[in-house]
Amino acid sequence: MTSTITLTRPDDWHLHLRDGVVLRDVLPHTARQFARAIVMPNLKPPVTTAAMATAYRARILAALPEGMHFEPLMTLYLTDNTSADEIHRAVDSGIVHGVKLYPAGATTNADAGVTDLGRCMAALEQMQALGLPLLVHGEVTDGEIDLFDREAVFIDRVLIPLRRQLPALKLVFEHITTKEAVHYVQEAEGHMGATITAHHLLYNRNALFKGGVRPHYYCLPVLKRETHRQALIAAATSGNAKFFLGTDSAPHPKGLKEHACGCAGCYTALHAMELYAQAFDQAGALDKLEAFSSFHGPDFYGLPRNTDTVRLERTEWRIPDELPMGDSTVVPLDAGQSLNWKFV
Ligand code: DOR
Ligand code: ZN
Repeated sequence: MTSTITLTRPDDWHLHLRDGVVLRDVLPHTARQFARAIVMPNLKPPVTTAAMATAYRARILAALPEGMHFEPLMTLYLTDNTSADEIHRAVDSGIVHGVKLYPAGATTNADAGVTDLGRCMAALEQMQALGLPLLVHGEVTDGEIDLFDREAVFIDRVLIPLRRQLPALKLVFEHITTKEAVHYVQEAEGHMGATITAHHLLYNRNALFKGGVRPHYYCLPVLKRETHRQALIAAATSGNAKFFLGTDSAPHPKGLKEHACGCAGCYTALHAMELYAQAFDQAGALDKLEAFSSFHGPDFYGLPRNTDTVRLERTEWRIPDELPMGDSTVVPLDAGQSLNWKFV
């Protein structure tokens, strides 16, 4: 049995770092494991301009503990009012690597998101022309559509028409959760990738209700049936370069998760690589972990692969019950349970 794995240092292609005191507490977890991360812009207020992204990047770097290295790859938050000029400024800044599409109201801090993609055409055409990727939260927000079907319906209603209109637009289908999304990405022509979280590889929707309501397994897009989880495992371990690592680690204070109307998001930054290793190990595909974690992402974004390495050991350890976060705490995924891999 393999007892250690050495990997080229991975990157996280989808991450929520938040801001202020929370940022200070969560950033070291990510920076310990990953060299770079695509940083989501859903702050309050959202990061909608190149100037705001530049300022946010400076706050992230200022929060990084001495001696740690980490490169935040910034994103803009697409709104109905994002102009083609702003896209130009973003590309000129050299620090913005994508523009995030949140359908209005889809998830945490998505109120300012896009109400109608038709209103964003000037920005999207500019992104296509300049090669700046669109990072998509792929769920319709139509209350008539069953929560578990929102990703599949998004493909038909939004993604297919959009890609017909802008076939050369670079696009990442973020945190995919269904076999429909896996198939769509596999078949798609052009420059298309998809991120997959560790929690969607490890759990199906039973985890949300095992013995009672379990808010720490609630995220968006929500966990799906086992058949979908298996499709995600097959995609992640296939070696197909379209699929890469994106944790979607999304910290919320414990009290807002364990709440009558709990927030969406799983906190996995603490133990991200261990969780992915567990999922790949269970699938008998540890040999596919490095390309998924460390090669496919930078290749998609046109960035160099990292040159240093990290090591994981097969050692059992217990995930803490909670971790300090600002004036509260955050509960990591699988808190109190044991993991078989340890990042060393
Ligand atoms: O579960 C989620 N949490 N999904 C998202 O899309 C947003 C994220 C957050 O920011 O908390
Ligand atoms: Zn996210």
